[in-house]
Amino acid sequence: MTDAAIAFPDELPAGFQWFENEPAFDPAVHLALEMPETVTHLQEFGYSDKEISRKATSVAVSSPFRVLSSEGAVALLEVARSLRQHAISCERIENMVRGGCYRSRFLRDLCIDPSLTELMCEIYQTDVAPHTMPLHLGHMNFSPDDLSKAVDKWHHDTLPLDTVMMVSDPASLDGGNFEYFVGTKQEMEVLAEKGLPPPADRVVAPHFAGPGYAIALHGNMVVHRGGPLNKPGERISMVNGYVSTNTALDDQHRHVDLKLVDPPEALFAEWARHAAWRGKSRLEALLNDLEFTADHEIVAARLEDAIADVQQAIVEMKQNDVEMHHYERGQK
Ligand SMILES: [Fe+2]
Repeated sequence: MTDAAIAFPDELPAGFQWFENEPAFDPAVHLALEMPETVTHLQEFGYSDKEISRKATSVAVSSPFRVLSSEGAVALLEVARSLRQHAISCERIENMVRGGCYRSRFLRDLCIDPSLTELMCEIYQTDVAPHTMPLHLGHMNFSPDDLSKAVDKWHHDTLPLDTVMMVSDPASLDGGNFEYFVGTKQEMEVLAEKGLPPPADRVVAPHFAGPGYAIALHGNMVVHRGGPLNKPGERISMVNGYVSTNTALDDQHRHVDLKLVDPPEALFAEWARHAAWRGKSRLEALLNDLEFTADHEIVAARLEDAIADVQQAIVEMKQNDVEMHHYERGQK
């Protein structure tokens, strides 16, 4: 499936404007899609089949694969440099740009491109769609100004699936590697409680052959980070989100963290639409397959399950005490 689960909105949220004078995205010119050589599964990270059964896919991470042609890589780097002026900080990431797909049509059209989405379906081995929330499309990370800081601290993502693409040339950098921990979130939590990073012999830093290469990640299940740079350099990466189109599975989001980083003018309507999409789909499934039964507990549970994401969104939107998740607590 390559259709959008929710169409990209026609109108821009307050505070966003389209760039002028950028090239139009042309998949025939800007893409050079290739399959990754290897894919690793969550079982190899230590997750049980039961834990995996309600997740979007059993795929954990792929080896780097090519997404952009050399023309595409040059064009995306220009877009990223233009977006840099809109960078913000949060507890986890010193310099990032959210909502770039509300500013750059090139970035938007790359992130929702049907042939790229088709490739992601093959890699994830399940039907996925570009993320329902445009803030999760085309997220950009930039080098921290403080070299002692990681580009992005050890964490798991607030969304289930994403690709991490090198936008600047990784060969030009000393450090700044994308790294992931071959272990579970629970193992990482135990380490974090002791103030420890993942053991070095269980950390993998994939080799990206150049700008425009990406990995596919089950970001909500695989603990990862953008490591610190050893020397100043232009390090730009782009994270593009996906959702499983199977809404019977777990939502696998931690939307509430976004209250700490995202513009409310965009966030709340996006979040509500995402919850509505999931609720609508689950209610439709109930309409189609609920059988006659005298057991009110079964029927009530089905109804409750159908609207669970909507109810959770309401509670979390009203929640005031929000803490950003990461595994480097005590280190700011
Ligand atoms: Fe991440």
